[in-house]
Amino acid sequence: MVPKIVLLVALAAITVNARRAPHADYIESLFKANNGGRFSSDILEDSLLDAPGLVAKYGYPIEIHHVTTSDGYILEMHRIPHGRDEHNTRDPSKPIAFIMHGLLSSSADFIVKGPGNALAYVLAEAGYDVWLGNARGNYYSRDHLTLKPDSNINQNFWKFSWDEIGNFDLPAFIDYILETTGQSKLHYLGHSQGGTTFLVLNSLRPEYNEKFISFQGLAPASFMDNNDVSMFQSLAPFENVIESTAYLLGYGEVFGDRDFITEFKANYCGEGSIFTELCSSTITGLNEREFYNSTMVPLFLAHAPAGASIRQIAHYGQVIKFEAFRRYNHNSLTNLIVYGSRNPPPYDLSKVTAPSYLHYGASDKEVNYRDLHNLASKLPNVVGKYRIERETFNHYDFIWGIDARQVLYDKLITLMKDAESRL
Ligand SMILES: *[C@@H]1O[C@H](CO)[C@@H](O)[C@H](O)[C@H]1NC(C)=O
Repeated sequence: MVPKIVLLVALAAITVNARRAPHADYIESLFKANNGGRFSSDILEDSLLDAPGLVAKYGYPIEIHHVTTSDGYILEMHRIPHGRDEHNTRDPSKPIAFIMHGLLSSSADFIVKGPGNALAYVLAEAGYDVWLGNARGNYYSRDHLTLKPDSNINQNFWKFSWDEIGNFDLPAFIDYILETTGQSKLHYLGHSQGGTTFLVLNSLRPEYNEKFISFQGLAPASFMDNNDVSMFQSLAPFENVIESTAYLLGYGEVFGDRDFITEFKANYCGEGSIFTELCSSTITGLNEREFYNSTMVPLFLAHAPAGASIRQIAHYGQVIKFEAFRRYNHNSLTNLIVYGSRNPPPYDLSKVTAPSYLHYGASDKEVNYRDLHNLASKLPNVVGKYRIERETFNHYDFIWGIDARQVLYDKLITLMKDAESRL
């Protein structure tokens, strides 16, 4: 009975899905302003579609599922239950790959590069039942039983960090997936904050460890002593005032389409230069732009950033400032009420016992390899640390790198199969 309901939901989603990519209007207006400029109409068409729309366009099965967390957030998952060319039948015994995106991102991260290149398709073709989560507050998960994301009266919808994403969103996703498929375990793949939330979940709720065949940490963010990102570095000393200032100004959200894109456009990518190499390098702050397919940049920009809370940023700011991977720091009175201590407790990484495979890039500025080694030294069940062969591999190459399949995704599949054989 469950599959039938799911199928109906999927069909409804495809036919009634009027949603476009988060920044579709913006991309379209640039296209018009430049008379098409130098990007193809194919790319324009793709840039307007949301994540499920893209999957459907390329002939893959797509399902949209909603789950409600124990604290009332209504979240959206996208599922590609099987491949198009290989492993292209429904099979309830397929191993599950559940993927969580990074800060300010969405499920689209694993789709935009298209069939043959993007991680979600590569996994589906390799025989996985692929589920993509969307954390509370992003474009696909801006809903709650009672709170309103656009309320100007207060920003209560936005009062969460990645602590709540790990503690509430992940259990809701994982319980739902396992119940729907009838399986007892899955692979968890998390990019950046998607790795952070995995660590949060299993340290706060260690009973979840047994639900994972493997944890594939793709530059999982935890300690940030060696973080070299100017945004975080400049915000960190002010973490305690960022949030209150933002609330005063009426923002609980960062980098949603209201403010960020306008600013971004004005400052970085004006005068028809939006889709040049310069613009793509500005986004990452790095010069390895030859490792992105520059034709695809409009598509990347149509989907990112996809929204996050101020508190998610502030919490990473705290990790840097206090040089500790610990729970969100309120004021000391609130800490006392919430945690029973004046300072927030550290996440107990000794409780994260799921088999962990940690992948890192030597040129990653967000998750520096030294911080990743530090994390590995604290986790009790590290199967391996895997340095990606290309020396220039950076934080965004995990999702957008033109060679990510060759240097990473194929290897992930080998490691996942290896983990399955150990069960
Ligand atoms: C870059 O993307 C375009 C548009 O999808 C595609 O036609 C082209 O083959 C890609 N180039 C490489 C080197 O992958």
